[in-house]
Amino acid sequence: MQILDGKLVAENIKTKIKETLELYAHQNRRTPCLATILIGENGASLSYVASKHKTALSLGFTTKDFKLKDTVSEDEVINLINTLNHDSEVDAILLQLPLPKGYNTEKILNEISPDKDADGITYINMAKVALGENGIVPCTPKGILEILSFYGIQTEGKHAVVIGRSRIVGRPMSLLLNNTRYNATVTCANRHTKDLKKITSDADILIVAVGQSEFIDSSYIKEGAVIIDVGINRIKDENAKKGYVIKGDVNFNDVINKASFITPVPGGVGPLTIACLMENTLELYNKRENIQ
Ligand code: GUN
Repeated sequence: MQILDGKLVAENIKTKIKETLELYAHQNRRTPCLATILIGENGASLSYVASKHKTALSLGFTTKDFKLKDTVSEDEVINLINTLNHDSEVDAILLQLPLPKGYNTEKILNEISPDKDADGITYINMAKVALGENGIVPCTPKGILEILSFYGIQTEGKHAVVIGRSRIVGRPMSLLLNNTRYNATVTCANRHTKDLKKITSDADILIVAVGQSEFIDSSYIKEGAVIIDVGINRIKDENAKKGYVIKGDVNFNDVINKASFITPVPGGVGPLTIACLMENTLELYNKRENIQ
C-alpha cells in the first residue's frame, strides 16, 4: 500500500507558481489578484479562507478578502460580485461555499463572470467540464487528477466510483473522469443508491466525497483499489489542542491493508484543492493578460 502524498504534489505545484510569479514581478507585470467572499462565520469556512489567503500571499499573489455578515442581502452580495467583475485589478473571485441557509447559491454564484470564476463552477465553466473542453476546472477534482497523474495511476478503462454529486467535487469529478482524456467508466453514487457496497466493491478507483466521518471501511472496497478520500470532518475531541480532530470519509486504518494507494486525511486531497485554486487564479490572470 502506498500513501498518496497530497502535500508533496501540492508543494510541487506551488513552487512552479511561485517561480512564475517571481518572473512576472521581474518583468514588471501587474500582480495577479484573488478575491474571496465569505458569508457568515462557519468555523471550517473561516479556516479554509484563511489558508487560501496565506497560501496566495506566500506565492506572490495579492488578495482581497470580503467577510460579510450573514445578515447581508442577496442584492448586496451580487453588487459586490459585480464590482469585482469590473475591478481591473481582480483576476479571480471565489465565493466560499456552502452559503448560510436562505441564500440562493445558484443565483449568487452565477453572477461571477466566467472569466473570473476561480472555482470553475459557474454555468459556462461547468458546461465546458461536462463537454470535455478546455477551461477552468473545479479545484478539488483538478487536484485529484493531478495526484493520480503524479503517481502514474492510469484511469483509462478503469471503473471509477465517485460517491457524492456535489457541485464542487462529485459531479465535476465524474464528468472529468468520463471524458476522452481520462476514459474511465464512471459510476456516480448518491444517498439514494441501492446496494452501494456492491458498486464500491467493483471500483478500481474509489473517490469518496460524502462528508461523513469514516463512512467507508474495508468491507466496501476491492483488494488493490485506489482510494481517494475527500472528507474533512471535524470530530470533537477534548484532548485535542483545537478541541477537534480531522477525520476523512474513509476509515484509513481499516482499509490500508486492502487498498493499493490511499490519500491520507489530513495531507491528501486538502492541500491540492488550495494549490489548484492558485493554479486557476494564475490561469485566469494569464488569459486576461494574453500570456500563453
Ligand atoms: N468549500 C469547500 N471547498 C470549497 C472550494 O473548493 N471552493 C469553494 N468556493 N467553496 C468551498
